[in-house]
Amino acid sequence: MDIVNIDDPKEIVDLSHDYRMDRKFHLRFPILNWLTLKRSLSVLSFEGKRFPTMVPRDSAQRASAQAKLGAELDAKASSTREGPGELEPLASWIRGGGSDSQVGLLVQQVVGRLFSPAFVATQESWDAAKILVTAPRSNWLKSLWWLLTGKVRRAKLLLAGMVNGDLCAVNGIGIASHNIVKSLVQMRCLYSDPGTRGLLSPEEAVLRCLAAPVSLFRQPTSAGEVKGCPFSKNSLFVLAIGKASKSAGGRSLIFMDDSWSGCPAAQWLPAMLEGVWKRASTEPS
Ligand code: HEM
Repeated sequence: MDIVNIDDPKEIVDLSHDYRMDRKFHLRFPILNWLTLKRSLSVLSFEGKRFPTMVPRDSAQRASAQAKLGAELDAKASSTREGPGELEPLASWIRGGGSDSQVGLLVQQVVGRLFSPAFVATQESWDAAKILVTAPRSNWLKSLWWLLTGKVRRAKLLLAGMVNGDLCAVNGIGIASHNIVKSLVQMRCLYSDPGTRGLLSPEEAVLRCLAAPVSLFRQPTSAGEVKGCPFSKNSLFVLAIGKASKSAGGRSLIFMDDSWSGCPAAQWLPAMLEGVWKRASTEPS
């Protein structure tokens, strides 16, 4: 194993600007690095293509898909911020309607509609999303079993079939939706306290709810050193943005703003959450 864990916000920002830190992801020894990457790449690829979050920095196709999706979502941000009718199911859930387990499906519905007007989330599609997010992080035996029995492949087939094979969309409905769920669970908790609810503006509420992914992988393209610590080209860097984004100065890590890998939903997502808060606060419960 040759794994470097980083959870300091400034160090993560510095590494994200370091041209050697990439997502080329060559399967190299030592064995635990190989296994960790192999498992993630197997889950986060479909029909020989990697999900956008696993594609190298210098891929022109990745960069253009990122810019195109970013522009499309930015264009929707201001109307979404007003809390349109399509956010009512989420607003109603924030007001306390429905069980905890229903929110995933509601989130997947909102994200899926960004890509396909005919998208209809079902319990089966949300279960598929849970398989995708669990598979790279669960215990090794379970992961192996799911890969061997085709459980993960069937989950990806189902999700890809719902969005015309667009892997940005599969990432949205299969992986990113879980971070949105985390944010909404926190929002429901804030909303349930009438004192807090009355004090917070939509922007403040969203700032207190946004949740980053737990961590990101990077692999150096050459050996070197960071702050006097040597690393080899076999090292696997784990950027713990979930933890770092909660520290002072870590807000930009939630979406990796100002990085080549920045999330295209970085404007739309907070706007959507503001819209949900606004709608929940103004509609009669
Ligand atoms: C709370 C919700 C979300 C959070 C916290 C989040 C966060 C992130 C982060 C940190 C990255 C950078 C990954 C890296 O550096 O390796 C990323 C990339 C990406 N995100 Fe999001 N995201 C969210 C929601 C979404 C949604 C809803 C979509 C689609 C509609 C989306 C699409 C993407 C795509 C396509 C990339 C890859 C960009 C690239 O490197 O080309 N994200 N996201």
